[in-house]
Parts: sequence; C-alpha cells; structure tokens
Amino acid sequence: MIFVTGGAGYIGSHTCVELLNAGYDVTVFDNFSNSSPEALVRVQRITGRKLQIIQGDCRDRSALIAALQQSRANAVIHFAGLKAVGESVSKPLNYYDHNVVGALRLLEAMQTCHVQTIVFSSSATVYGDPVYLPITEDHPLSPTNPYGRSKWMIEEILRDAYRSDSLMRICILRYFNPVGAHDSGLIGEDPQGIPNNLMPFIAQVAVGRREHLNIWGNDYSTHDGTGVRDYIHVVDLAIGHIRALAALKNINSAQNDQSSGCMTVNLGTGQGYSVMDVLRAYEKVSGCRIPYQIAPRRSGDIAACYADPQLASQVLGWKARFDLEAMCRDSWRWQSGNPSGYQQ
Ligand code: NAD
Ligand code: UFG
Repeated sequence: MIFVTGGAGYIGSHTCVELLNAGYDVTVFDNFSNSSPEALVRVQRITGRKLQIIQGDCRDRSALIAALQQSRANAVIHFAGLKAVGESVSKPLNYYDHNVVGALRLLEAMQTCHVQTIVFSSSATVYGDPVYLPITEDHPLSPTNPYGRSKWMIEEILRDAYRSDSLMRICILRYFNPVGAHDSGLIGEDPQGIPNNLMPFIAQVAVGRREHLNIWGNDYSTHDGTGVRDYIHVVDLAIGHIRALAALKNINSAQNDQSSGCMTVNLGTGQGYSVMDVLRAYEKVSGCRIPYQIAPRRSGDIAACYADPQLASQVLGWKARFDLEAMCRDSWRWQSGNPSGYQQ
C-alpha cells in the first residue's frame, strides 16, 4: 500500500494513475487546499480501480498516524505542499509551515508507524541560478526564494533522518518543469486564479480564457532571447516515482551505503526549450494562434536551466519518453476538453 500525500494535485493524480496501473494499492491523504476530489474520481475512472481517500492536513501528526495505521502503508510518496514561488516571498511563514512542518510531522508519523520508505518531491529550484549546464545532482544548492529554501530544508532533514537510521529508504526527486496531462484528457493541471507557469498560461490563452501571453523578457543569452527550461511530461514524471519505489525496494541493506539508501535524483529530459519554442509547438498542435507581448523580465528568473538526467537512467532505469509536441498535445486535449478545469 502506498500512502500518497497531495495525491489529488497535479503531479499526485498522475502518479496515482501509474501506481494503480502498476498494481499498487493507494491511499491518498490530501487537504484539498489546491485540488478537487473530482481529480480522484477521474483517476479511478481511468484505471478502473478504487483508491482510499483520507482528507487531512500534513501538519496534523495524529491525523497522519491514524491514516497511516488505517491504510497499512509500507511506503509514502510526499507531494503535499505549497508551490507558488511569488507567494512564498510574501507569505514565507505559511510556506515553511505547510512544507517544512508538514514534512517533519509526516516523518514523525512514519517513525511511529514503522514506515521507512519515502519518495519526496523536490525541485530544480534548489539549484538557484545555474553555475553550469546541464545541472548534475552535485551542483551547488543555492535556492533564491522561501519556496526553494523550504525544499532544500526538507532535503537536509531527510538526509539527517537517514544518517540516524540507515534502514530508511529515501529518494529525493528534483523535478524540472512538469507540463502536459494524461492522454485520456480526464486529468490535468488546474491552477487556481492566474497561472504562474508558462504552459497552463498558454493553454488558457489558446482556449480563450486569457487575451495574450506576456513573455517575461527576450534579452536573455539564449538562442532566441527568451528563457530556456527543461519541460518534462507529467506522465514521464509520474513513472519516475514508480521507478524510485522499485529502486528503493531493491536496495540490499547488507550492502547499504550512504548513497544507495538515500538517493537524490534529477527528473528532467536534458533538453532545454525556450518560451518561443513552447509557444510555437503549442500553436502547431492546437491550431490556435497564441497572441503574445514582450514584457520586462520577471524578477528572480534565470536565463536557462536544464537537467543532466544520467543518474536517473543509472539508478532508477528511467528516461523521459515524451517530446515537447506530446506535452503540448496532451495539455491541449485536457484544456480544450475541460476549459474550466475540474469545475463543471
Ligand atoms: P498541487 O498543488 O497540484 O498538489 C499539491 C497537493 O497537496 C494538493 O492536492 C493540495 O491540496 C495538497 N496539500 C497542500 N498542502 C497540504 C497540506 N498541508 N496537507 C495535505 N495536503 C496538502 O502541486 P503539484 O504541481 O502536483 O506539486 C506536487 C509537489 O511537487 C509539490 O510538493 C511541489 O512543490 C513539487 N514540485 C512541483 C513542481 C511544479 O512545477 N508543478 C515543480 C517542482 C516540484
Ligand atoms: N514565462 C513567461 N510568461 C509567463 C510565464 C512564464 O514568459 O506567463 C516564462 C518564464 O519567464 C520562464 C519560462 O516561461 O522563462 C518558464 O516559467 P515557469 O514559471 O513556467 O517555470 P519556472 O522555471 O520559472 O519555475 C517552475 C516552477 C518552480 C520550480 C521550477 C523548477 O514554478 O516552482 O519550475 O522545477 F521550482
């Protein structure tokens, strides 16, 4: 049984599909602060399988203990948390509370319930402004905002937890830029309010919910002046979690060493695309023109960021399969079929 915190969210719901398809039983623990229970109804429709749903908050240790006991989980995937970089600057305490305190309470509850395996959602944001590209896992960590620092702190807490208990099995996954949707068109990203991220914003322009895209700067030192990122299809990302669970299960404790029982792995494609590349690819698959304006740079943005994905291939046997066109196509299928997201 896999206990999935934040399982109703964007990445969590796609991961639940892959878990159920791979034969795992799943319990979702979510407070639905940034998601809809409808996502889980659809996960069950896609897979033809049931999952257990427990509404609760990760900062509530006793609720976590009760839920872990009820589910009889033997591993946890921890997605729950807040993720908006800009909001984290204006509400840092809220971010440390949900993210750091939430992770701490979860680890305490796991200890009480003798659950020793955890896969954690970290982010490429922990690297800050890249010193070199592509980014390997040993790149210096220098997060530039409270959201990124909360991820970095949780990583350190996990590494300390492992140092104190070498029977723990921990995989820290540093995601690059997750985009796209399940190819059923039934689940996808459903941001509340104005989207911060590029692809959901483009999707809402394409579907007519917004007039135009602002491109935050075209004077970066990239091939066309717009920012370059490593976009990764959310289904590839979800499959990365299944591989992480399998890799953790295969670690032989007799041969265990610091690196194998607590792994930190990038999940990206290794390929960088610019804002203009994404916009053109989206226009191609949707058949819609995406009006845009060049606007000043967004504060805190970097020119380019993409992963070295080799370690994921070596230790997880994982490689991204979907290309940019597939990411845009699946995003468009979700957005055009559900113009208002999960709201009917
Ligand atoms: P999301 O907001 O769609 O999902 C997070 C889920 O956690 C939501 O269902 C929300 O209701 C729930 N949640 C939030 N706080 C909670 C709490 N205190 N207790 C219980 N549930 C709570 O986000 P996502 O895009 O699916 O991201 C999942 C994880 O991946 C997050 O930890 C995020 O920081 C990380 N991540 C996301 C991205 C990205 O671009 N989407 C990139 C890197 C890392
Ligand atoms: N962009 C625009 N206009 C928009 C939105 C974005 O031009 O309306 C540009 C940005 O300037 C950047 C690129 O599109 O060049 C990607 O921006 P996103 O906001 O989609 O992604 P970021 O790389 O800035 O950040 C995201 C998440 C972070 C996470 C990081 C790495 O928001 O939480 O990816 O995983 F840490």
